[in-house]
Amino acid sequence: MAALSLQAGPILEIEKATVYRGDTCVFEDLSFTLQEGVHTAILGPNGSGKSTLLKLLAGEVHPVPNDAMRIRLFGEEQWNVWDVRKRLGMVSHDLQHQYMDQVTGLKVILSGFYSSIGIYGHQEFSYAQLARADEMLEEMGSASLKDRRFGEMSTGEQRRCLLGRALVHEPAALVLDEPTSGLDLTATFHYLDLVRARMLKGKTLLLVTHHIHEIPPDVKRVVLLKQGKILQDEEKRAVLTEANLSRLFDCPVALVEANGWYQALPCHATSG
Ligand SMILES: Nc1ncnc2c1ncn2[C@@H]1O[C@H](COP(=O)(O)OP(=O)(O)OP(=O)(O)O)[C@@H](O)[C@H]1O
Ligand SMILES: [Mg+2]
Repeated sequence: MAALSLQAGPILEIEKATVYRGDTCVFEDLSFTLQEGVHTAILGPNGSGKSTLLKLLAGEVHPVPNDAMRIRLFGEEQWNVWDVRKRLGMVSHDLQHQYMDQVTGLKVILSGFYSSIGIYGHQEFSYAQLARADEMLEEMGSASLKDRRFGEMSTGEQRRCLLGRALVHEPAALVLDEPTSGLDLTATFHYLDLVRARMLKGKTLLLVTHHIHEIPPDVKRVVLLKQGKILQDEEKRAVLTEANLSRLFDCPVALVEANGWYQALPCHATSG
């Protein structure tokens, strides 16, 4: 496999990818590009293919091979999935479910250096890596979780540790799947603050979600995905409209905006 290029450019280029999960054709000729520095949210209803797109990116599902299909990561057509995992920081619900209950907070963070689930005897960590993992626990507001086992953490605590794991190796991009589902308001705001701080430091965000309220103001591009097809891919203000969201979710949606954040509401007030 070729070594990954270090020059700036598109992080991800997908051209005409057809992807099946079991007998379901999730994408047919899907094309999508993620440019470095262009924070992007992919918004779509349940089953639209958001998690499948991230699995494609992570090398966990594969496109049907054909002459027109290309997937380039950091400009390279031939990529080693482990190199890619090191250059992307991913947090998904599957990862949270798969993660091993007995692993402590510090080890969860350390596992990010190898993109592994848990850490193993053959893995070696330098003093600098150990110190970085400690710092990351502090930065995530999770110092008290250093020796706590993953299975004994709350959902929000687990999520913060997994964010630290995704960031500890300084990836170019942060890739998040519904990052705040299951978190209460305080945990949601704290988590989004942590993500925004990383965006300000130059990490490109790729967020996939059906929660409009978790799209940070710094996201400039929004892609609407429905039944495996891209309905719209434009600047956020043009995409986040009541008409577009009503079409996307097949129900009437009212939209409110405050300080660059959006929230979707039912269109009609219910009688009480
Ligand atoms: N392991 C699987 N085997 C067969 N079909 C699958 C599998 N996983 C997902 N699918 C199907 O693929 C389609 C896309 O699923 P995916 O999980 O990518 O959707 P999603 O947009 O992430 O949805 P959600 O918002 O519910 O997380 C759905 O029709 C789903 O039923
Ligand atoms: Mg999903």
